[in-house]
Amino acid sequence: MERLKMQTPNLVDENIKKIASLFPNCLTETVSTVNGEQRTVNGIDFDLLRQELSSSLVEGPRERYTLNWPGKNEAILTENAPIAKTLRPCKEESVDFESTRNIYIEGDNLDALKLLQETYLNKIKMIYIDPPYNTGNDFIYEDDFAEEAEEFFQRSNQKDEHGNRLVANTEANGRFHSDWLTMIYSRIKLARNLLSDDGVIFISIDDNEQASLKRMCDEVFGDQNFVSTVVWEKRYSPQNAVKWFSEAHDFLLVYAKNKLNWYPNLLERTDAMNARYRNLDNDPRGVWKPADATAQGGHGTKSQFYALTAPNGKQHVLPNGRCWVYTEPVFQQMVADNRIWFGADGNNVPAVKRFLSEVKQGTACQTIWKYDDVGHNQEGKKEVNNLFPESAVFETPKPVRLLKRILQLSTEANSIVIDFFSGSATTAHAVMQQNSEDNGNRKFIMVQLPEPCDEKTEAFKAGYKTIAEIGKERIRRAGQKIKEPPPSPPKISTPVSVFSK
Ligand SMILES: C[S@@+](CC[C@H](N)C(=O)[O-])C[C@H]1O[C@@H](n2cnc3c(N)ncnc32)[C@H](O)[C@@H]1O
Repeated sequence: MERLKMQTPNLVDENIKKIASLFPNCLTETVSTVNGEQRTVNGIDFDLLRQELSSSLVEGPRERYTLNWPGKNEAILTENAPIAKTLRPCKEESVDFESTRNIYIEGDNLDALKLLQETYLNKIKMIYIDPPYNTGNDFIYEDDFAEEAEEFFQRSNQKDEHGNRLVANTEANGRFHSDWLTMIYSRIKLARNLLSDDGVIFISIDDNEQASLKRMCDEVFGDQNFVSTVVWEKRYSPQNAVKWFSEAHDFLLVYAKNKLNWYPNLLERTDAMNARYRNLDNDPRGVWKPADATAQGGHGTKSQFYALTAPNGKQHVLPNGRCWVYTEPVFQQMVADNRIWFGADGNNVPAVKRFLSEVKQGTACQTIWKYDDVGHNQEGKKEVNNLFPESAVFETPKPVRLLKRILQLSTEANSIVIDFFSGSATTAHAVMQQNSEDNGNRKFIMVQLPEPCDEKTEAFKAGYKTIAEIGKERIRRAGQKIKEPPPSPPKISTPVSVFSK
């Protein structure tokens, strides 16, 4: 990992370079006023570019398929504007500052993502985020839009009595959904730049914004790079006080930077999966399980419809609408090789023997993740409570097993991982845990706003003033607890604040 550059690039300049690399003839020079001085700067000749794309330009009031909301243009301006901020290293809070490559950034993630652009462009293998779900009780961080700030704050009535920009987004806000989309749009666009060509992002979300987030990500990543919507079973018991349905799941939206370059790793087979294999006939090839020997008739060829004669002479007729999975000659070869099971007495419906020794070493990931396999909300809370026995410091952590599943699917031993809504730093905890289990050397970058803990919370009473303080302390404590061979303290470098120059 290279040394982090302490300035942000002007993303408009970067965009100009990208267009110029495709259409060098469209690059031009123009005079512009920069800091009060007249300067010659690069620009794009739009008339020429329009000419290059003339057959497929969509302009003006023409109807088009797009996701739009009030604030989208502001979000694009915000995303591209350079910032005069830098990261200040915090050696006294770090463990092994000089040698570690893990980073904890305390500050607004929009600033942090801009600061990470140059050093980590195309270098991140996996991004996980768990943003506020916009439940009506969330705080979202209002960005400094290009329009006059006061005008914006007056219009949206979104500055608290202390002038803070971390404001409650309640349903009473006329731009309830728009403000959330504006907040997340610029961040996801910046995050995409950081992903490597074989990188992937997992985004936790629930029904409040799942539909709009999916549409937005289709736009940002291209719908051809949509991988899946995973359903995670987050709760194990029903909530009886609800008026309609008791919500038992969250979603994980999964997008690849380039789906043709990203394939998930196979998951390790579980003991429960292997336990389904037995050896009913002492086959020397080992344990096996019976699989259906028929398939849907509509998919079969003519040669898959026949009456099958078992070795004991019994005729097996196909059920309605089904065909055999093999043609008759292949089926008879399988029978000769003792790969078809007709039951202990030879009279049962035939089944194909699938040997454990012949199945893939791992298993493909399914789209429903059960809490038995990846944990539930209460497990996440218990894990944090175990690390902080003094009090319940964080209400909504994800379980470590959920993050470990994501790491197993999407990372290798040296991958760099980012979580820029890191909360109690479950992702960092899971990275350290996974590294200790498979001798990996994954690195993490966590970003967390120093969101103040409410004075009424247990966290505040236990001495934690911000969520970032909780996140950093969790990394120290979890790192200490995870036994690494040979045991060593966790390595965390913490440039912990983003400040204006
Ligand atoms: C749902 S929590 C994440 C919980 C986390 N996955 C865990 O397991 O602990 C979302 C976090 O994002 C933080 N956050 C919200 N807006 C942010 C911003 N603009 N920059 C950085 N962090 C932000 C909040 O303070 C909150 O802690």
